[in-house]
Amino acid sequence: MVLSAQFTIPLLGVETEPATIALVALGFLALRRVFRFLKGSRSAYFPKVYTAFQPFALPGLLFPTTAWTTGLDWHWVRREQTYALNETVNVVPVLSGIPGLWTSNMDIGRQIAAGGHRSSFIKPESASGAFLSWGMNLAASDGAMWRKHRRVVGPAFGIDLYKLVWAQTVQTYREMIGVEGWKDKDTVDIPVIQRITLKLAFILISTCGFGFTSTWATPPKAADGGMPIQEALKLVADTHLISLVVPKWLMHLPIPSVRKTRIARERMAKFMQQQVSERKADVAAAVEGNTRADAFTMLVKANQDESGKYQLDDQEVAGNVFLFMFAGHETTAHSLAGTLGFMAIHEEIQDEIVEQILSVVGPDRDPEFDDYSKLDKVLAIFYEAARMFPAGHALIREAIEDTVLTIPNPVGEEGSKTIPIPKGTQVTVDMVGVQYNPRYFEDPHVYKPSRWYGLPTDSELFTAFSVGPRACIGRRFATVEATCFLALLLRDWKVQPILRNGESKEAWGARVMDAHIVLTLGVKDIPVRLVRRKCT
Ligand code: HEM
Ligand SMILES: *[C@@H]1O[C@H](CO)[C@@H](O)[C@H](O)[C@H]1NC(C)=O
Repeated sequence: MVLSAQFTIPLLGVETEPATIALVALGFLALRRVFRFLKGSRSAYFPKVYTAFQPFALPGLLFPTTAWTTGLDWHWVRREQTYALNETVNVVPVLSGIPGLWTSNMDIGRQIAAGGHRSSFIKPESASGAFLSWGMNLAASDGAMWRKHRRVVGPAFGIDLYKLVWAQTVQTYREMIGVEGWKDKDTVDIPVIQRITLKLAFILISTCGFGFTSTWATPPKAADGGMPIQEALKLVADTHLISLVVPKWLMHLPIPSVRKTRIARERMAKFMQQQVSERKADVAAAVEGNTRADAFTMLVKANQDESGKYQLDDQEVAGNVFLFMFAGHETTAHSLAGTLGFMAIHEEIQDEIVEQILSVVGPDRDPEFDDYSKLDKVLAIFYEAARMFPAGHALIREAIEDTVLTIPNPVGEEGSKTIPIPKGTQVTVDMVGVQYNPRYFEDPHVYKPSRWYGLPTDSELFTAFSVGPRACIGRRFATVEATCFLALLLRDWKVQPILRNGESKEAWGARVMDAHIVLTLGVKDIPVRLVRRKCT
């Protein structure tokens, strides 16, 4: 058969030229666009922010944020302007995508993101896609499916785990000092502090969450060696958004970066299979009630549960392994790196923190788990960094039915208004917006850990882990690890910025302490110098 201009396609019983079909299709797309645009513009309740493309969808996420479009980091870049209009805005894409509400009000955030039995809002699949390709999991699921997943892993998150996290953090800190060769040094320059914090957090989730053997000298590897798992995981996560949209065969092209990504995916998959089958054997061999209780064992047990109610299939186990390995370390590592960046700028705060560490723990002994609740100022420097650089930066939800939102009146006015939200509306809780909202924080642009001093460790006044039943399951895991690590590090070392020629601390802060968003939000590469504290 020869393809030519005469080639025709039967449409509605009439022979039609391809060009006509293309025109009809284009016309249809244009109409749909106009319809969506008008639908978005119609809502009269909130100020509109016009943009070329929808922020977290293709092609919008490929463009940097500029005056005409909203990229992946638009809520960071425009954090000073957007919510001056209203605490909630309607982001209306002109060329591609659907309109959606973005809010910086946590009372609204609670209504849409906290979960609970009667919620009219779910996590749309488009928002969880990043983790779904490995299998359904706790973070991506909703309703009964979510309850099942949370029921399975929930029991792993108890006091025994946190004690283990504390002890493992002390051990890992000691290994780090030894392996990095810092024992006999008085100053150490670290060009990118994230290298340290990512490794720490990865070892912690691997050992405490999964029971994998892992040390500073030998991080987890697949049995056949090759690319370390931490690197594979990072590559897979960083390239995830792209790999969702390109056709499968592209992944087999002989381009070095594509090949590396493919190897990383294969390595992750193999690692998961291997670990799952080893643990299955462990669980089978163990006497009833005498097995480990880490999150991974819980998942494998649920996989083998014959009674069915809380059973997870192989895909779901893999989905959760990938989720926990990733969510359990990038977030914590970014927040820790941010904390150290702020310490480098604020010497006076650092001194105040060290005073508390010395008065609670003293100069020599290892910090103990019982010290955790007394080190509230140490936790506060971590909280305040996570407020200003929230790793979980956007909670995306969609109304599954016609519903309403209760909108608090502006600051200074009592009461609230009720506003109808039609089925299908996307509402995003902007954690950057919330945590820079002057309604909740005086001088939100100032790093001021003292706002958190004395706060009970699980208070919902701190919102970076979200709130309610759907809040972060790893909150205590992260805060216990961070408090212990910071207590050890700051007691031994003074953290200083590595300045460029003639650069002031303030200029360093302005240059370095800026957000970088891939899946999670973190601070750009932070160069710091550790100087041994002589007094201890
Ligand atoms: C500073 C560190 C962390 C921050 C800022 C953070 C933030 C968040 C936020 C905001 C959510 C809610 C997402 C949403 O509702 O759309 C969340 C959920 C979650 N986090 Fe974290 N997280 C951190 C550490 C961890 C750790 C250490 C783990 C695992 C050990 C973890 C595992 C999870 C999981 C599994 C969920 C989903 C929970 C559910 O949907 O039931 N996170 N996290
Ligand atoms: C924001 O919009 C809501 C809904 O229209 C309105 O009730 C509220 O007063 C507005 N807030 C401000 C600060 O303008």
